[in-house]
Amino acid sequence: MSPQINVLVPLIVVAYVAIEVAAKVEFTNFVCTSFDKEFGDFEYCYLKSVNRTYKYMSTKFNLYQAPIKKIKVNISLHKRFSGYRPFMYNVTVDGCRFLNNPKSNPVILFFYNIITSFSNINHSCPFNDAVIMEKIPTTTFNHHFSSVLPFPEGDYMLQIVWIAYDINRAVTKLYFTLS
Ligand SMILES: *[C@@H]1O[C@H](CO)[C@@H](O)[C@H](O)[C@H]1NC(C)=O
Ligand SMILES: *[C@@H]1O[C@H](CO)[C@@H](O)[C@H](O)[C@H]1NC(C)=O
Ligand SMILES: *[C@@H]1O[C@H](CO)[C@@H](O)[C@H](O)[C@H]1NC(C)=O
Ligand SMILES: *[C@@H]1O[C@H](CO)[C@@H](O)[C@H](O)[C@H]1NC(C)=O
Repeated sequence: MSPQINVLVPLIVVAYVAIEVAAKVEFTNFVCTSFDKEFGDFEYCYLKSVNRTYKYMSTKFNLYQAPIKKIKVNISLHKRFSGYRPFMYNVTVDGCRFLNNPKSNPVILFFYNIITSFSNINHSCPFNDAVIMEKIPTTTFNHHFSSVLPFPEGDYMLQIVWIAYDINRAVTKLYFTLS
């Protein structure tokens, strides 16, 4: 190796490690609200810290009027400046159409990829069972919010409005810090 490369290689490695380490997600709050308890309600909705490295979120929404054949989700990411403001994403998507062709909406796909392997939503419509997201770890968010897309540091709130038959049924708000 030339002396120049000798200097560059560790620098690149350090820079890479620094970027990886710099992006760290910490959940700060998770709030789930049902707007229509005859339609469905949350059985649970919580954050848990198992130890310093293993922290996760879980929720289960029971459907009382299944089968559900028409679903939309509206996803918006908010960043706190002085109060939370919409940041980058604010989209509504037809859930049934999306599930048939996830590549059709790259923005929703980004969020879908975070939750899909920890949930039971990866199937086509209708929805007959409860919607479950089980133990989604901070590390999965770390990966998507740093390696997949670089996001600036700060306090964020990821809001998902769950809509069935064009009526807002529930909202989940996940608050987290990116440092
Ligand atoms: C944290 O808990 C997980 C799950 O129980 C375990 O696999 C992991 O080794 C623990 N990590 C530390 C640093 O204790
Ligand atoms: C989303 O965007 C619409 C306009 O497209 C705007 O009216 C609405 O206030 C925004 N909502 C959120 C939650 O950011
Ligand atoms: C997303 O939902 C919010 C809150 O219900 C609404 O204000 C906004 O218009 C929706 N965004 C889009 C793009 O439909
Ligand atoms: C979703 O399910 C389909 C069909 O079972 C499978 O091919 C696909 O890999 C799954 N996608 C994800 C992201 O898990």
